Amino acid sequence: MRDPVLEIRDLQIGIEREDAAVDGAVRGVSLTIGKGEIYGLVGESGCGKTLTALAVAGLLPPSVRVTGGEILFEGDNLLEMDPAQRRKHNGRQIGMVFQEPLTALNPLMKIGAQIGEPLRIHTDLNARQIRTRVLEMMARVGLQDPEILADRWPHQLSGGMLQRVGIALSLLLRPSLLIADEPTTALDVTTQEQILELLRELCRDSGTAMLFISHDTDVVNRLCDRIGILYAGRIVEQGSVRQVMDNPLHPYTNGLMASIPGVLAGERLFAMHGSVPGIGDVLPGCAFAPRCPHAMPQCLKIFPDVSLQPDLNDPGIEHTVYCHLFLRESRT
Ligand SMILES: Nc1ncnc2c1ncn2[C@@H]1O[C@H](COP(=O)(O)OP(=O)(O)OP(=O)(O)O)[C@@H](O)[C@H]1O
Ligand code: SF4
Ligand SMILES: [Mg+2]
Repeated sequence: MRDPVLEIRDLQIGIEREDAAVDGAVRGVSLTIGKGEIYGLVGESGCGKTLTALAVAGLLPPSVRVTGGEILFEGDNLLEMDPAQRRKHNGRQIGMVFQEPLTALNPLMKIGAQIGEPLRIHTDLNARQIRTRVLEMMARVGLQDPEILADRWPHQLSGGMLQRVGIALSLLLRPSLLIADEPTTALDVTTQEQILELLRELCRDSGTAMLFISHDTDVVNRLCDRIGILYAGRIVEQGSVRQVMDNPLHPYTNGLMASIPGVLAGERLFAMHGSVPGIGDVLPGCAFAPRCPHAMPQCLKIFPDVSLQPDLNDPGIEHTVYCHLFLRESRT
C-alpha cells in the first residue's frame, strides 16, 4: 500500500482480572490504512472494536493493556513511545470522534473556547487568530450561526450539533488519522446521513485517513473504501468494501449482512442464533464454530489459516478470509 498512515500488526489486548490473570479481548488484529483511506471495522457488540480504537489513541482504561503486537503510526511504533511523545501525537496527529459526543466535551466550557483549546495548547496563534479558525471550522462542519453558537454551553446543543462540535474539535489540527467510534449511532437517521457525508468530505479534502467503527454493514458500505470484519477479537474477513459486500465469504460476514434494521436508529438485529464468546473463553478453533451453519469437526480444534481470495474488481487490494471452507487442505 502507498503511504500507510496506520499499521496495526497482530495487536493483542488483555483485561486484568482480580486474580491477576489476563483475559484476551483482542486476539491478533492486523490492518493497514493508507493516506486518505477510510477503513471500516465492523462487528457485533463485544468483539473488541472500541478497545482496538482506544489502543491506537493511547486511551485504554487502567485495567486493560496491550499484551502483544505493534501499532505503527507513519512508521513509528506508538507502543514504544514514552508518555510525552505519545501525548504529542494524540490530538495533534490522531483525532478521535466518540459515539457520545459529550464524553469528549467539558460541560463547563463554552463551545467556542472548547473547540479552540487544541489550538491554544499546540500552536502559537493569538486569541483573535484562534477565534477566526474556530468560527471557520464551525461553519465547515455545518454549524449555523457560529458566532452565536460559540457562546453556548454544551448542554444547550442537540446531539447532532454536539457531534459536529466533536468533529470540529478533532479535525482542527488537521490530523493524519481520524478514529471515529460509532459516531452516528446515537443520532436520528437524517442527522446520521449528514454526519457521514461530512466525515467523507473532510477526509477526502484533507487526505486524512479514517478508522471508522460500526456494527452496521450498510453504513460502512456507503462510507468506506476497505472493510475488516471483527469477531471475538480477530479479523475474520478483510478486503475492499465492494468485494466483501458483493461477495461475502466468511459465514459470519454473511450473518452480519443478513441482519435487519431494528427499532432504534442505527440498530440492527442479528439474524443468527447464539452470541459472541466472552473475553475469558478459551477458543482453540474458530470462535464462530458454535454459531456457524457450516461448521466441520476441524473448526472446533484448529484456528483456520488465512486464505487469499482473488478480488475481481481490484486486483491491487487483497481479499482475505479466515475460514476452513476456503482452505483446500481442510476440505479434503
Ligand atoms: N474496561 C473494561 N473492563 C473490563 N472489560 C472490558 C473493558 N472494556 C471492554 N471490556 C470487554 O472487552 C470486550 C471488548 O469490548 P469493546 O468495548 O472493545 O467491544 P465493542 O466491539 O466496541 O462493542 P460495542 O459494539 O458494544 O461498542 C467486551 O467483552 C467488553 O465487555
Ligand atoms: S472455520 Fe468452520 S466454523 Fe468457522 S466460519 Fe468457517 S466453516 Fe464456520
Ligand atoms: Mg464499542
